[in-house]
Amino acid sequence: TRVEFLDYEVVDDYGWSLTDPDLFEKAAEADLGETDYGRLLVEPTETLLEAAEGRGFTWPFSCRGGACANCAVYLAAGELSQPANTILPEELAERGFRLSCNGYPASDRLQIVFNLKTLPELDDLML
Ligand code: FES
Repeated sequence: TRVEFLDYEVVDDYGWSLTDPDLFEKAAEADLGETDYGRLLVEPTETLLEAAEGRGFTWPFSCRGGACANCAVYLAAGELSQPANTILPEELAERGFRLSCNGYPASDRLQIVFNLKTLPELDDLML
């Protein structure tokens, strides 16, 4: 699975919105650093977080077990699996939030925004 990723700090700094349909086009044109925006490949046998770490990125996490939401990402396109019984409320899952520590790629392409710690909706869930 090919993943295009973007750091939420950039989204916030530029005053962009997660739900902007042109978000990744803007990011591609913004001359961002390679840890802020880029692409990576995820094997079917690895979680999104493992894939990012395996390529040398340091994305936020804490428990690695679906219980803290520090590793949450926003899915702008594609699908990432979401095991039942995690910290993420149904409502946030419906809006496209997933956990990267236990989410496996479920589509050929993914566009995700990581590092959501400053997003108010997720703030309360993070330990
Ligand atoms: Fe805690 Fe993923 S690291 S839910």
